[in-house]
Amino acid sequence: MTAEATATVAPPASRTIHPGWVRVTHWVNAVAIVVMIGSGWEIYTASPLFPFSFSRTITIGGWLAGALLWHFAAMWLFVVNGLVYVVLGILTGRFRRKLLPIRLGEIAADMRAALTGRLAHDDLAVYNAVQKLLYLGVIIAGVIIVLSGLAIWKPVQLQELTAVLGGYEAARYVHFFAMAAIVGFLLIHVVMAFVVPKSLRAMIIGR
Ligand code: HEM
Ligand code: HEM
Repeated sequence: MTAEATATVAPPASRTIHPGWVRVTHWVNAVAIVVMIGSGWEIYTASPLFPFSFSRTITIGGWLAGALLWHFAAMWLFVVNGLVYVVLGILTGRFRRKLLPIRLGEIAADMRAALTGRLAHDDLAVYNAVQKLLYLGVIIAGVIIVLSGLAIWKPVQLQELTAVLGGYEAARYVHFFAMAAIVGFLLIHVVMAFVVPKSLRAMIIGR
């Protein structure tokens, strides 16, 4: 069915910017990721990779064993929910429609417009090039953090995967940097959601 035909059959649905499955998986993911980051920071603090650790006031789990329990519990929520989002994103054509293509020239132009306060958000259904890049990037970071997480969780059973990532120690760094990328994304993402509140409304009620 063409887009026009869909619009005549169901006019109200045509105003929907984010369908239900996007909104539900988005907010389930937000909860899961907070638990994964908080418990991950506690695991990190038990044996830091760098000369810093995270204050226990912002970690989840209280101690290493508690944090691992949280990490492995929320992992299922994160992975199952993420799979639903990615599979539906591909099957419904949403990713192709909303996130592609990403053109270098457009990224530069939209970035300039954003930094000078001239980037319009008139049509929430269309992402600008910077949004496309960040959303696709965080989805890829999500895939990398799952693969590296599996590699350090089951380094014996999944030794081929661990080897592809350069071994156990390297996979730990990959896992850590993927977390850092997601946290970096989140800082910008949450600020933008409140700078453009109608986008937040659309992610809650759909339009
Ligand atoms: C399938 C999903 C995941 C699995 C199987 C997994 C598994 C693991 C394992 C086994 C560790 C312990 C590593 C060690 O003992 O040093 C760990 C640490 C960690 N995880 Fe995950 N994880 C997953 C997803 C995530 C996500 C989504 C985040 C955050 C966005 C995250 C953040 C961290 C952090 C920050 C650490 C501590 C890093 C370190 O010091 O090694 N993980 N993860
Ligand atoms: C409290 C935390 C969060 C808030 C307030 C928030 C808010 C929003 C809003 C308002 C949108 C629609 C924005 C737009 O029109 O561009 C959106 C989309 C999106 N968010 Fe979040 N978000 C949060 C957490 C997260 C997390 C943790 C992730 C992933 C790690 C994430 C990934 C995405 C993605 C990929 C989209 C695009 C979804 C699609 O169109 O299919 N968000 N978010």
